[in-house]
Amino acid sequence: MKGVILAGGLGTRLRPLTLVTNKHLLPVYDRPMVYYPIQCLLNAGINEILVVTGGEHAGDFLKLLKNGKHLGCRELHYTYQEGEGGIADALKLAEDFADGGKIVVVLGDNIIEKNIRRPVADFFSQPTGGKILLKEVPDPERFGVARLDGDRVAEILEKPADPPTNLAVVGIYMYDNDVFEICRSLKPSGRGELEITDVNNEYIRRGDLTFGVLDGWWTDAGTFDSLRRACDLVAEGGANHAETPGPPAPAPAAGPG
Ligand code: DAU
Repeated sequence: MKGVILAGGLGTRLRPLTLVTNKHLLPVYDRPMVYYPIQCLLNAGINEILVVTGGEHAGDFLKLLKNGKHLGCRELHYTYQEGEGGIADALKLAEDFADGGKIVVVLGDNIIEKNIRRPVADFFSQPTGGKILLKEVPDPERFGVARLDGDRVAEILEKPADPPTNLAVVGIYMYDNDVFEICRSLKPSGRGELEITDVNNEYIRRGDLTFGVLDGWWTDAGTFDSLRRACDLVAEGGANHAETPGPPAPAPAAGPG
């Protein structure tokens, strides 16, 4: 299975920091934000990865990530989103990369504590459809929120003023190849974006969306408050980012003679 990291958008909520670089290259404690979603995929055994980015500073990704080998990627691909048309608009660009297969999508500003190997394996054995991960949060109105009907997700509401549950939709999505046909059928939302929540609601309408509950902590890092929280959580040592290989060791200095 292949992995896609969505790291486009303009990061306006983090200005002025994002005037000089892409949001996903800002530091979260001791490493750039985008290292965490990469590590999340690698820890789940996914090492063929596409980074979708955009904006004026897209070139900075190449400087940092290069071909991804030093991070443990077998293949690292890049593509460029024009404008900021939404998460599902960015996802459209992964169609050729997916090459008819299933994908695991991680939002570039989402950081988790633990490993998603198990839900990914469950999804792998799911014949069709999509799978999302839910997490109880104290502030569901900031996220997509699941309304449950018994043991299934009945509907997802994007940033509802009056959330029906405190179960937020984590920015990690698993889809079969129908996702691209669904993305093409979407209409922009009130905020002018193609919404990933509309993709998930279409899978629900088809009766083909499963869910799991994410183990361990989860945070986004797209606002000053959540970025600070992300730094604190990582610094407190909980993240499995310790599995990230560090920078390559410097070459030994040539000895005299
Ligand atoms: O963090 C999880 C939440 O992410 C979900 O619960 C929501 O349902 C989902 O809509 C999303 O909410 P946000 O409004 O917080 O998403 P945001 O606009 O901050 O975008 C998240 C990432 O998606 C961002 O770091 C990069 C990528 N993105 C976003 C946009 C708008 C793109 O690649 N291209 C885009 O055009």
